[in-house]
Amino acid sequence: MATMADVARSAGVSVATVSHVLNDTRPVLPHTRQAVLDAIDRLGYTPNTLARSLVTSRTQSIGLAVSAISNPYFTEILQGVEAAALEHGYSLLIADPHDDPEHERKVVQLLHERRVDGMIVAPSASPGELVAYLHRHQVPAVLLDRLLDAPADGPCFDQVCAENAEPTARLVRHLAELGHRRIGLVAGLPGYSTTRERISGYRHGLAASGLPYYEHLVAHGDSSSAGAEHATATLLSLPAPPTALVTANNAMTIGALHALRERGPSVPGDIALCCFDDFAWADLFSPRLTAVAQPSREIGARAVRVLLDRLAEPDRPARTVRLPCTFVHRTSCGCPEPSAQLEKGTVS
Ligand code: HPA
Repeated sequence: MATMADVARSAGVSVATVSHVLNDTRPVLPHTRQAVLDAIDRLGYTPNTLARSLVTSRTQSIGLAVSAISNPYFTEILQGVEAAALEHGYSLLIADPHDDPEHERKVVQLLHERRVDGMIVAPSASPGELVAYLHRHQVPAVLLDRLLDAPADGPCFDQVCAENAEPTARLVRHLAELGHRRIGLVAGLPGYSTTRERISGYRHGLAASGLPYYEHLVAHGDSSSAGAEHATATLLSLPAPPTALVTANNAMTIGALHALRERGPSVPGDIALCCFDDFAWADLFSPRLTAVAQPSREIGARAVRVLLDRLAEPDRPARTVRLPCTFVHRTSCGCPEPSAQLEKGTVS
């Protein structure tokens, strides 16, 4: 394999000049630069990033640990992270912690041992060990999607996520404006900030519409399709079942639709449906799903930029970035097919 010394010899320049051309660290005369590029091409030279890392103590890599990579929400986050990392000259190492606290700590340790320059992590519902590890080893990290409460004396992390409360309230207010008085919520896994915030948004939406909160109209779907199927079945078998449902993520929307199909009520004739999370097929369901869309790619891209800011300035105060969602008005809420374009409005 050709080395930098081979390139230098072939181009008739010093190794330092080759390095300056490769790393853009100093201006090089155009014809010298071209001679170096020609020699690189001729010899098929590829830089050895491991050798460079030994000198710089940087690997130009970012570790990404997100569970359920097959979930379109996280797939889009991954696309955003990958594109932004590439744009800034970083490569990615990806791990799936499977929403399991022990596995989570293990994969984060593996990424750390590979000497990534920093990490982006969507924490599990019990992130104690993860937080302790990141803190003990002073790993530059950005938490994504599921937020930690900022403890008075504990470690503080940069965090990036979507707004959860107001967009959920928006769905509830919309259903209330259509005349619904019993609106059920299929909620996520307890322990996630997203679950807490969406429940809080649900309650705010009810209050803003002058409707009482009934605990029995909130069923825990555990953030999964199977959990939501069960939770929806429970809501449908109440003596006075809800006339409208809000599902608190994309997987739970699928589970709720399974339960509805199994039990018979038609959407939106018998029961209206509004969903947190938009996804590629939401527009193909009949009726088309009224939803709140998270800016998933932007969440990923922003997490990279926040991490790079942290690497450039390790002592800067930790910050939490919130990104607005978009209300995508379709027909599962019971509204007629809009004659013009989809009504899209930002809610945050
Ligand atoms: N968090 C936020 N939104 C989501 C999730 C999640 O874990 N899964 C699907 N939508």
